[in-house]
Amino acid sequence: MINLQGISKFYTRDSVGLHDVSLSIDHGEFVSVVGQSGTGKTTLVKLLIAEERPTQGTISIGDWDITKISQRDIPLLRRQIGVIFQDFKLLPGKTVEENVAFAMQVAGESIKRIRNVVPKVLDIVGLAHKSHRYPTQLSGGEQQRVAIARSLVHRPKILVADEPTGNLDTVNSQEIIEILKKINEFGTTIVLVTHDKDIVNQLRKRVITIDNGKIISDADHAKYRL
Ligand SMILES: Nc1ncnc2c1ncn2[C@@H]1O[C@H](COP(=O)(O)OP(=O)(O)OP(=O)(O)O)[C@@H](O)[C@H]1O
Ligand SMILES: [Mg+2]
Repeated sequence: MINLQGISKFYTRDSVGLHDVSLSIDHGEFVSVVGQSGTGKTTLVKLLIAEERPTQGTISIGDWDITKISQRDIPLLRRQIGVIFQDFKLLPGKTVEENVAFAMQVAGESIKRIRNVVPKVLDIVGLAHKSHRYPTQLSGGEQQRVAIARSLVHRPKILVADEPTGNLDTVNSQEIIEILKKINEFGTTIVLVTHDKDIVNQLRKRVITIDNGKIISDADHAKYRL
């Protein structure tokens, strides 16, 4: 489903994001990506969502070679790959449901479809009862759940999460992970970048460790070992 062949990303001559990374992730996997700060994890995320282009190598998603994806096709890719970040990136002037609906409006979805999908995704993250609140009226965990709901509106095949629990306490982090597990059980492939040792150890799924732009270990049912 996701395939990286010999991927390198050099931001400048002396700033290496990734160096000769090859990697395959199958449909329906739940993969954690771990590593020290500045080792290339976010670079990997940005390459997957085509926010950055690789300097070398090829990236494909399914049968689609996105290595040289045109600007015009990026919205199509973003429908297949949902993404969430550490800072939830919600629009402060919009309510919970408006934040989620907005992602569909900009994609040109019909009002009928928006009215149908928004309550469903809010229900998945357990926030249907807070749909009229503004982001400032929500806890951090709830804000992240809105971001997750928003990432699901196009029924993505893949969900990439870059430190989604980085700003949250243990209880809220746990809730976010439970939601990601549930989404994975529906069949969505999850790529979770995290520093959280407890989360990785508890998941007992595949763990890819990156160091200095390279994969130094890739193991199934693994523990966090740095
Ligand atoms: N836009 C950029 N221009 C130049 N160098 C960059 C840029 N973005 C990242 N880098 C460099 O690429 C390397 C990898 O950065 P990246 O953001 O992928 O790390 P990371 O593993 O996500 O770190 P963290 O855990 O702190 O989020 C770092 O050395 C960083 O300084
Ligand atoms: Mg990062």
